Amino acid sequence: MSVTQGRRTGPAAYPPGFVWGTATAAYQIEGAADEDGRGPSIWDVFCRVPGAVAGGDTGEVACDHYHRWPEDVELMAGLGVDAYRFSVAWPRVLPTGSGQVNERGLDFYRRLADALLERGIEPYVTLYHWDLPQALEDLGGWRARDTAERFADYAEIVHGALGDRVRHWITLNEPYCSSIVGYGEGRHAPGAKEGHGALAAAHHLLLAHGLAVPRLRTRGDERVGVTINMSPTAPAAGTPEDHAAARRMDLLVNRQFTEPLFGGAYAADMAETFGHISDFSFRADGDLAVIGAPLDFLGLNYYYRIHAAAAPYDEPDPARRSAFDLGVSGVTPEGGRTNGLGWPVEPDGLYETLTGLAARYPALPPVLITENGYGGRDELDDQGRVDYLRDHLAAARRAIAAGVDVRGYFCWSLIDNFEWARGYAARFGLVHVDYQTQRRTPKASYRWLRDHIGRAG
Ligand code: NOJ
Repeated sequence: MSVTQGRRTGPAAYPPGFVWGTATAAYQIEGAADEDGRGPSIWDVFCRVPGAVAGGDTGEVACDHYHRWPEDVELMAGLGVDAYRFSVAWPRVLPTGSGQVNERGLDFYRRLADALLERGIEPYVTLYHWDLPQALEDLGGWRARDTAERFADYAEIVHGALGDRVRHWITLNEPYCSSIVGYGEGRHAPGAKEGHGALAAAHHLLLAHGLAVPRLRTRGDERVGVTINMSPTAPAAGTPEDHAAARRMDLLVNRQFTEPLFGGAYAADMAETFGHISDFSFRADGDLAVIGAPLDFLGLNYYYRIHAAAAPYDEPDPARRSAFDLGVSGVTPEGGRTNGLGWPVEPDGLYETLTGLAARYPALPPVLITENGYGGRDELDDQGRVDYLRDHLAAARRAIAAGVDVRGYFCWSLIDNFEWARGYAARFGLVHVDYQTQRRTPKASYRWLRDHIGRAG
């Protein structure tokens, strides 16, 4: 008998009604980039920049989910999940970001939601998983306050079209990545390396979320939340410099977002840490109240803990230095576990994140783990992924036993897909995709998770 079958730590420890799901995102799986009136997004443009994406890969075809979705829904049904988290592509619905609605784009999601419901799978819709319409980027993108207003309009349109089928709404996915990684570090679309612009983008994303919340609550039975990624940070060594480095990373990745969402204030050390690159003039009176709108759940994406070491700046010349080169390097502890991409594997970090959130924010809504998964370059026998899922689920159960209100777990990802700047070489799927033939083949982890869900009941 495996450890996970024992009573104290077994699936029986999940609370009644615990939601099991898998997750994907539009640009990572759909392909069909030019079909049925879809407009270009910042990722279509970014992928064409030489050197931006490993192997010159693009999402143009991806997993061809736009045509193969019935097969993917069957794979989910076979897994026994209760729910599926997918994103709607803004440029399919509004090809230029605002104005004329493209009904053919909405029809795709109507068909998908119907097929899911027929199989007893609840759709959880993410409205923004990084594919901003390029036309809005041309007007400033997330640097511009107006983009937040456009997002709220878009949210209302999608809700109007799908609200009779979809109850669960996630406004944003990982605003940290779409602001800091996209506008600050330039590793994601739109590939900008700005200081003030990236902080403005983070603020406007949070504002967009807050503005959308009431627009998604018009029927009365909706459940509305936001998904953020969190990485607890730890000093690599006990030095004061490493402690300070860990705190800077914690601000950048975590508290910049959690404080205005759940703490009713901007993080206190924003000015101290970023005052040299921004005057925060993008903040307006009343924004905090909008951003802090009460939510039905927090979506948490957890992958790893950051071990922060104070380090020389990547770019010695301050005039040329990226604003988010904080003089910190993330290190993997000696002998530590890593996934197939070299990321630390630290299930305790999930426990720490969940219990830390609950301790810090008394008004924290129930938590859904909206992403967690193992990245590798693996093929079908993915024991590393099985171990990763088993150990992270055990950590989630420990947090539940400690009193944290965790209501569900969505594995990233159903199928291998376009892993952003890493292209197709990095695989996160429970199901292998052969990109030559588009053949889907369940991996060992698919069978393991199916059995685990089956035992959890
Ligand atoms: C988080 C993102 O939401 C998702 O798009 C990505 O593929 C996974 N992490 C893995 O890196």
